[in-house]
Amino acid sequence: MKTPDNIENVHWVPEWFESYLFHAAIPQNAPEWMKEMLTYTLSAGGKRFRPALVFSVADDLGLDDEQVKPIAAAVELLHSASLIHDDLPSIDNDDYRRGKLACHKVYGEGRAIVTADILFFQAFSVISEIEDVRTKANLYTMFSKTATQLGMGELADIEYEGKHPTLESILEMYRMKTGAIFGFCFGAPFAAAQKENVVEETTDLGGRLGIAYQIYDDIKDVLGTKETLGKTPGKDLSHEKSTVLKYVSIPDAKKMADEFLEFAISGLEALGACQTANFLKRVSRTLKMK
Ligand code: IPE
Ligand code: IPE
Ligand code: MG
Ligand code: MG
Ligand code: MG
Repeated sequence: MKTPDNIENVHWVPEWFESYLFHAAIPQNAPEWMKEMLTYTLSAGGKRFRPALVFSVADDLGLDDEQVKPIAAAVELLHSASLIHDDLPSIDNDDYRRGKLACHKVYGEGRAIVTADILFFQAFSVISEIEDVRTKANLYTMFSKTATQLGMGELADIEYEGKHPTLESILEMYRMKTGAIFGFCFGAPFAAAQKENVVEETTDLGGRLGIAYQIYDDIKDVLGTKETLGKTPGKDLSHEKSTVLKYVSIPDAKKMADEFLEFAISGLEALGACQTANFLKRVSRTLKMK
C-alpha cells in the first residue's frame, strides 16, 4: 500500500483495513455488548501510524497488502490494548484517550483490564492467520518477544516513578515500551519477505524511531493541550515519571529525538526502503506537534 498523501487525515490507513482490524479484534462468539467494549478504544480514532508503517515497508519490499494485513492488525491491537492498561488509575490514571473517555471510565476498571487482555490475545490470534508456515513461525516468535519487551518497558516506567534512573536506563525503557512495536513494524515485513539477514538491523532502526516518538510524546505532554493531544497533558510531571526531560531541556530533547529519527530514516534509505523513509520525513512535523 502506498503511504497516504494527506497526512492530516485522522487515519493513515484505508477503510478496508479498519473493517479488517475490527474483525481481528472480535472473537466470533462475542455477544454484542462485548463487541462494543472490544471496539471502543479502537474506534476512538488513533492515527494507525504503526499499521501504516507496516504497509509502507511491505510496499517497499514488493509485498502485497493481503500478505501483511495480519501483521498490521496485530501491531495496532497490541498498541491499543497497551493504551487501555496504560490509562488505568493504578498506572497513568488518565481519564481521556484519543479524545474520548478512557476505556475504564466508560466500562469500569475490571472490564477495561480484561478487554485489553482479550485484545492482546487477539493480536496473537491474527498473527496465526498468516498462511506461509515458515513466516508464521518466525513472526510468532518475533511478536511474542515484542509484546514481552513492551510489558517490560511499561513495568520499568512504573518502577522508575519518583526515582532517578540514569538517562541511559530511561532510553532503554523507551526502547522497550515504545520502540519494541516500531521495531516489529520494520522487522516483520523484512521477515515476511524472507530477508532474514536484515531483520535484526531493521528491528533496531524501528526501535530508534520508537525512542524518538516517545521523546516527542514526552515533550507534547509538557507543551500540548487536551484538545491537540486527545489525552490529559502534564501527566508525567504529576506522576513523577522519569522521562528524558529530567536530564535535558526541551530544545535538547528535541535535538536528541531528531537524531534518533534521522538515524532511522537514513538506515531505511540505505536498505532501499525509500517510500517509508519519505513517509517519515513527511510525517515528522505532525509527529512533533500532535
Ligand atoms: C501513544 O501513541 C503512545 C505512545 C507510544 C506515545 P500514539 O500517539 O501513536 O497513539 P494513537 O494510536 O495515535 O492514539
Ligand atoms: C507510552 O507511554 C505508552 C505505552 C507504550 C503503552 P505514555 O504513558 O507516555 O503514553 P501516553 O502519553 O499515555 O499516550
Ligand atoms: Mg505510561
Ligand atoms: Mg500514559
Ligand atoms: Mg506520554
